[in-house]
Amino acid sequence: MNKHIIALAASARSVGRSSAHIPVRPLAALLLALAAPAAFADGDAAAGKQIATNVCAACHNLNGISNKGQDPQPPILAGQYKDYIVQALHQYQKNQRKAPVMNAMAAPLSEKDIQDVAEYFSGLPGPLGTLPKGGE
Ligand code: HEC
Repeated sequence: MNKHIIALAASARSVGRSSAHIPVRPLAALLLALAAPAAFADGDAAAGKQIATNVCAACHNLNGISNKGQDPQPPILAGQYKDYIVQALHQYQKNQRKAPVMNAMAAPLSEKDIQDVAEYFSGLPGPLGTLPKGGE
């Protein structure tokens, strides 16, 4: 997607050479600005592992297979969809999902931290991929 946006910006610039009526520079700047968050959205699993080591591992373990027998029970994060983890952390931050432990854990995370830690946990092998068949 990035490539398309950059190509658009480039073609907007060349159109500008032939026509003086289009304000090319602001348009190109806007398109480049739109391209930036797409690159950012990928997440850095190594940085995420550092956050997991320092904070999350206490309950979710570094391998994402959470400790058993805690109350409340921390869910398994290994292999969870990245988007799901990102959304859950956003909801905890905004208090849209209430769980005092996780509301406190999510509060100090930056948007980059959320992307990174989600990248890390979603990439781990875990049992969440083997869901039981419906009705069983
Ligand atoms: C003190 C224990 C503890 C720590 C530390 C902790 N968590 Fe949690 N986490 C929990 C518990 C308990 C829940 C279940 C809360 C609920 O019912 O919503 C949970 C839920 C979650 C969920 C929702 C998962 C799902 O299946 O819905 C995510 C995502 C999550 N934690 C990520 C993290 C991340 C990332 C960190 C580190 C920044 C972290 N947690 C640190 C205890 C912890």
